[in-house]
Amino acid sequence: MEDKTLRPVYGNTWVLEARELIPVYFLNEEHTEAILLDSGLAVPDREMLEDWIRETMVRIRAVICTHAHRDHCGNNRWLKETQGAEIFMNEIENCAGSFYPMFSRYYNNIPAKELENYLPELTVKADRCFTFADRQVEVEGNVFGLIPLPGHTPGHTGIVTPDGVCYAADAVMSEDVMHRAKLPSDDDWAEAENSRNKLAETDYPWYIVAHKDVYRGDEMKKVTEANHRDRLERIRVLLGLLEDGRSYTREEIIRLMWKQLDLHIHDGMKMLIFNRNLECLLQYLTDSGRLEREYSQGVAAYRKTGLFPG
Ligand SMILES: [Fe+2]
Repeated sequence: MEDKTLRPVYGNTWVLEARELIPVYFLNEEHTEAILLDSGLAVPDREMLEDWIRETMVRIRAVICTHAHRDHCGNNRWLKETQGAEIFMNEIENCAGSFYPMFSRYYNNIPAKELENYLPELTVKADRCFTFADRQVEVEGNVFGLIPLPGHTPGHTGIVTPDGVCYAADAVMSEDVMHRAKLPSDDDWAEAENSRNKLAETDYPWYIVAHKDVYRGDEMKKVTEANHRDRLERIRVLLGLLEDGRSYTREEIIRLMWKQLDLHIHDGMKMLIFNRNLECLLQYLTDSGRLEREYSQGVAAYRKTGLFPG
């Protein structure tokens, strides 16, 4: 029976077409055992994962994670408990993603209890951790390459399957995701740019990019360049709102951007993520000298300096 939820990429590497693309590496020709690269969202991807596992009887032996965001490890705990899957993760991501008070750092420092209400069952300790010094990890006798790609999150790691397919995850946005994103979600914009440049220098036959696309090796440079242009445009738009040179509080800037982007977000988690992403952009513009931050009566305000990205 044809499995419409699966799309081949190369060799034993496939992608499960859930709402988030979940890369699958099959351990045998019969497709009875597999390793997942990330595990998607708890809602709605678990339902599809559950159907796929039940219908094909595939056994998930392990999940190798790129980073601890909710759309990448939303089913880790469930797969560990129901399939006995071993969880592999970078040590920094494990530290953040296994303990709500630390995890709140990834969600604009929202109180831990509130985050747990938004994302119940998300945190889980990895069974095995790797570091940025590790260039590979052996899972069930198969060697997966590791590429440190920090920036999107501090421990974000690209994974290369034994077939040579590179899963770049959120280090790069696919063109479709980029056009739909309200703001990029890079924790550290400068680091993320370095990681994209590093990725552009690699030479793998295929790249899987979160959350929807698979690119041929020769298309990847074009995608990383489009990401670079997109970031410059975001910066131009934000600095354009502060053109008059006066100081704006963070809240004033949020309102300006909200209006500029014509946002109609009502979901609390999405609003929180928008706030986080804007905060990261303000930090980058301050670090790179395009904004000056000053405090008045305990309130931070930002002023444009005149420097513009080249
Ligand atoms: Fe992410």
